[in-house]
Amino acid sequence: MNQTILITGASSGIGKASATVFADRGWNVVATMRNTDDGIELAGRDNVLVEALDLLDSTSITTAVGRGIERFGAIDVLLNNAGYGAYGPLEATPMSVLRRQFEVNVFGLVETVKAVLPSMRAQRNGVIINISSVGGRMTFPLGSLYHGSKWAVEGLSEALHFELATLGIRVKLIEPGGVNTDFGGRSFVFTHAPESPDYQPLVDMAAAALQEEASDDNQEPHEVAELIFNAATDGTDQIRYISGDGAAQLLANRYSAEQDEQFVAGMRAQFGL
Ligand SMILES: NC(=O)c1ccc[n+]([C@@H]2O[C@H](COP(=O)([O-])OP(=O)(O)OC[C@H]3O[C@@H](n4cnc5c(N)ncnc54)[C@H](OP(=O)(O)O)[C@@H]3O)[C@@H](O)[C@H]2O)c1
Repeated sequence: MNQTILITGASSGIGKASATVFADRGWNVVATMRNTDDGIELAGRDNVLVEALDLLDSTSITTAVGRGIERFGAIDVLLNNAGYGAYGPLEATPMSVLRRQFEVNVFGLVETVKAVLPSMRAQRNGVIINISSVGGRMTFPLGSLYHGSKWAVEGLSEALHFELATLGIRVKLIEPGGVNTDFGGRSFVFTHAPESPDYQPLVDMAAAALQEEASDDNQEPHEVAELIFNAATDGTDQIRYISGDGAAQLLANRYSAEQDEQFVAGMRAQFGL
């Protein structure tokens, strides 16, 4: 029987590319997204089921998982891809913005994991792949919300890797650097906080640097999707998969520092802090 993957955020970017890569290789794909109108291309394929799933709506999560199992018999791989980036000075960012970042990137992901676990446990088989980021192991200024959410994804994924090991379920992390998607557009929320002049020099500098980051040395979404396919099918217990040379270089720079001080000093110099 064909394997089945359920993907969150399959409307665009890495999620959509992953849906295409898996479907092209004969997998059944439950392509979930907030607005199913965005899935028209995918919906035309026999082995793809497009379902509504909003990470802020618990019922939509359990319904999409249930329909996926009903249609294809099982979910062998869960790809927790959906997410967005909230940036800005923490002090000036409303708690509602902070909470939403964690509701989507962390708690929505956790709810999706909880929704697939009963069936994966019953079949004593499954792979859960969570999309983190280089930003899950290093940080940029004004990224306390986004990085906080991705570091949370890293920590909970690593702990779950151990927790689920004896049940035949593997937990893995993908860590992309810059990828040419709409992340800097539809998935980017920047609180500029003009009412907080103390932060404006850093806001201006960080906004410009993040813009640069978006155009430099980026991967294409299908390249990340290939790595995800590899992680789903390699049969290993590897936890982390760094996506792309740019990401590998960033993390090498971060972790070659003997102490945090060296990394922190580099960032402070870069941002004139
Ligand atoms: N692009 C990069 O440089 C980069 C680097 C490292 C990590 N990542 C991570 O890669 C993942 C995918 O991002 P991407 O680059 O492919 O960006 P993207 O093309 O903007 O895709 C983001 C996806 O997340 C979905 N989403 C946002 N909020 C949601 C919610 N409440 N419920 C369900 N889906 C929701 C979006 O849905 P809509 O279409 O409805 O907005 C979209 O499908 C994210 O987790 C991101 O943090 C990206």
